[in-house]
Amino acid sequence: MRTIIGNWKMQLTIAEATQLAKDVAAALPKRLPDVRVAVCPSYAALSPVKDALGGSPVVLGAQDLCHEEKGAYTGEVSGRELADLGVKLVIIGHSERRSHVHEDDALIRAKVQRAFKNKMIPVLCVGETRDERDKGLRDVVVERQVRAALEGLDLPARGELVVAYEPVWVIGSGTAVDPEDAARSHYIIRETLRDSFSPETADRRCRVIYGGSVDKNNVGAFLARPVIDGVLVGGASLSAPEFTAIVEAARAADAKGAGRG
Ligand code: PGA
Repeated sequence: MRTIIGNWKMQLTIAEATQLAKDVAAALPKRLPDVRVAVCPSYAALSPVKDALGGSPVVLGAQDLCHEEKGAYTGEVSGRELADLGVKLVIIGHSERRSHVHEDDALIRAKVQRAFKNKMIPVLCVGETRDERDKGLRDVVVERQVRAALEGLDLPARGELVVAYEPVWVIGSGTAVDPEDAARSHYIIRETLRDSFSPETADRRCRVIYGGSVDKNNVGAFLARPVIDGVLVGGASLSAPEFTAIVEAARAADAKGAGRG
């Protein structure tokens, strides 16, 4: 089963986010047994979007959470609040947070742990910058980021983890990397996960998805590779027809037999 996640970033008003959620829910079937679909609005839009999704199978996600459970952290939102709101998965360590607010590996690890504690699925984002790629450091950077975020952590019973490979230089550029190129990073991430947990745990409970300029035209080429378990979509998730076409492409890819069950 593939995982398709829309990251709405800070692009919408509450009214726009609510409308988009309604449109996505209306365009998708009432049941989606063959694909997991989530949308991640900003904090302020979580509640109205949840209401707008109604009984739809689309899952509510958040774009971040505080590394602490509670306390004097002005401006932060806790994992338990998000869980109260019905958030099931949470993006952690997105490159925009790594660069704009200087999130480091230790903070990202604490956030992954906090998400697990609150029974949410962390969507851990990793990926190299253009400069790191040009220096031939892609594999090293990706492996280091995964190891650092998971160091000393166990997957809780029935817990799941999603790792999103997002080459930083591709995000928002309109041009995705070659799917074969992305697949190499996915192999590295999967091997790192197998080593960090156990091969069985990693293969059963971890998903590795691709993000960076995914759209309805290129998504099929990514999902044709069994090592790519889904996609994290930014810009193209802001249009209901485009996003639902991506979801349909994921269902079609699985119907053809690609993917990890
Ligand atoms: P993009 O964003 O699809 O607009 O490149 C992806 C992301 O930032 O997760």
